[in-house]
Amino acid sequence: MAASARAFVLRHTRLRPVPGLEEIRLHLADEVLPLWYAVQVETGDPDAALPYWAFAWAGGLAIGRYLLERPEAVAGRRVFDLATGSGLCAIAAMRAGAAEATGVDIDAFAAAAIGLNARANGARVTVLRRDVLDEEPPAADVILAGDCWYDARLAERVLPWLRRAQEHGIDVLVGDPGRRYLPTGELIELAAYDVRTTTELEDLELKRGQVFALRAALPNRVD
Ligand SMILES: C[S@@+](CC[C@H](N)C(=O)[O-])C[C@H]1O[C@@H](n2cnc3c(N)ncnc32)[C@H](O)[C@@H]1O
Repeated sequence: MAASARAFVLRHTRLRPVPGLEEIRLHLADEVLPLWYAVQVETGDPDAALPYWAFAWAGGLAIGRYLLERPEAVAGRRVFDLATGSGLCAIAAMRAGAAEATGVDIDAFAAAAIGLNARANGARVTVLRRDVLDEEPPAADVILAGDCWYDARLAERVLPWLRRAQEHGIDVLVGDPGRRYLPTGELIELAAYDVRTTTELEDLELKRGQVFALRAALPNRVD
């Protein structure tokens, strides 16, 4: 699957600069529906996931911009990019001077795309293809979570996992354009950017992408 997934990604994308982060180049698609159909045909699965990996999402773009402005957030540190998609946040972290970066995603095509994208940017990114949300927090100093709050079930699992990571002393940076399941009460805004995406994915080409830290958990009250 790995070699054919790589060939599939190359066939359906074009390597190009990321809007607003032109120093990073990714294998990106122009249109979502034909590619989604091609994924369904390739996998024989009519319920195959949307090809998230072929786009730079607003949450990841916001994290990328933040790391460009504030490289000290990751410089010299071990970075874990949850739901990495194209690998955008992991690659941005390496460009900002991270000691190492791991990108995790459940999608086989994402795993292929991250490898190709990391190589295109001369960045070393370790790729994990599995669901880590029932596991203990990773051996990392910073977790990046770009655009993870679009699905109720995923959102429900991401927050406790990020909280556990925070309790283990791991810094958490969330990037998001205000998706439906974003737990705003749990977050502190660090920065906001107008990020350019595509109306293939969003209602508007320019979205307001925010970067947040996770609010410290309140100690349990004992009355
Ligand atoms: C909207 S995309 C965001 C991609 C990237 N972070 C960005 O901002 O461009 C969400 C990604 O989450 C991945 N995903 C969904 N459930 C996941 C899980 N349980 N563990 C890891 N990744 C997951 C999807 O495959 C998809 O690539």
